[in-house]
Amino acid sequence: MKDLRGKVAVITGSSRGIGKAIAIELAKNGAYIVLNGRDASRLEAATEEVSKIHNKVVSYCCDVSQPEQSEELIKAAIDNYGKLDILINNVGVSMRGDVADLKPQVFKKVFESNVFGSVNPTIPALKEIRKTKGSIVFISSLAGIRGLPYLSAYSSSKMALRAIAESIRIEEKSNDVHVGLILVGITQIEHNKETIASDGSKKILKKRDASKVDSTNTVAKKVVNNIKKRKFITTLTTIGKVNKFLQARFPMLVERIILGNLSKFQEKSE
Ligand SMILES: NC(=O)c1ccc[n+]([C@@H]2O[C@H](COP(=O)([O-])OP(=O)(O)OC[C@H]3O[C@@H](n4cnc5c(N)ncnc54)[C@H](OP(=O)(O)O)[C@@H]3O)[C@@H](O)[C@H]2O)c1
Repeated sequence: MKDLRGKVAVITGSSRGIGKAIAIELAKNGAYIVLNGRDASRLEAATEEVSKIHNKVVSYCCDVSQPEQSEELIKAAIDNYGKLDILINNVGVSMRGDVADLKPQVFKKVFESNVFGSVNPTIPALKEIRKTKGSIVFISSLAGIRGLPYLSAYSSSKMALRAIAESIRIEEKSNDVHVGLILVGITQIEHNKETIASDGSKKILKKRDASKVDSTNTVAKKVVNNIKKRKFITTLTTIGKVNKFLQARFPMLVERIILGNLSKFQEKSE
C-alpha cells in the first residue's frame, strides 16, 4: 500500500498523543480519517486540527473497551466513506507498581483498554479490511518484548497483542490482509497523561525531557512506513532494537541487565 491517497483509516484513541500524530501523518499522505476518543471536547479539538490538512476527516466518540461501541466505530467509517482500508489499534493505558501491591482491578482495567480495546474494533473491521486487502496495526511497546518490573499488567497486555497479531497474520494470509505490530519506545506525552497506580486510582505522569525521548511525530512516521511497506514488526529506538536482539538470544543476560538497573526502572515508574 505505497499510495495512501483515498485510503480510509480508523485510528482508535486519536484525540491526542501518538494516535493524533498518526492521524495527522496519514492525513498528510492523503488518507481519509476517522478519529476516536471518549472525551467529546478533546475529540472535537483534534478533528478541527486534522481538518486543516484536508476535509476528509470525521470523528466517532466512543469507548473501544465496549464491543458494541467498537462496532459502531467501524460502521462510522463505512457510513462516511463506504469502505475501510486501515485500522490502527492505538488505545492503551499503562500502570505502575509491584505485583504484590496491585489491586486485581489494575489488571482488569489495563486488559480492558489494551487487549479488549484492540480486539473489539478488530473483529468487525476484519471483514471490511479483507475486501480492501488493507492493514491492521497494533500499537505495542518495548514493554511487550519481555515482562518488565513494576509494569506487569502493561507488559503482559502488550505481549497479548503480539499473539493476536501473529494469529491474524496466519488466518488472513490468503486474504492478503497486512498485520503490523509497532514496538514503541519511551515517547513524548501530553500534559496530564494518566496511568493507573497500584490501588487502581488515576495517576498523572511527570513531564518527559523531549531531548531524551521519541517525538510522537517520529512514531507516527514509522507507523505509516510500516503500512506502506506492509512490514510485520517495527521496533523503535536503538535500545528497543538491542533489547529485542538480546532477549531473543540471551534472555538471562537481559534479566541481569535489568536487575543491575532496577533503580532506573523504579525512577521511571514514579
Ligand atoms: N507514550 C509513550 O511513551 C508510549 C510508549 C510505548 C507505547 N505507547 C503506546 O502508544 C499508545 C498511545 O499512547 P499515548 O501516550 O499517546 O496515550 P495518551 O496520550 O494517553 O492518549 C490516549 C488516547 O486514547 C484515548 N482513549 C483512551 N482510552 C480509550 C478508550 N477506551 N476508547 C477510546 N479512546 C480511548 C484518549 O482519549 P480519551 O481519554 O478522551 O478517551 C487519547 O486520545 C498506547 O497504546 C500506549 O501503550 C506509548
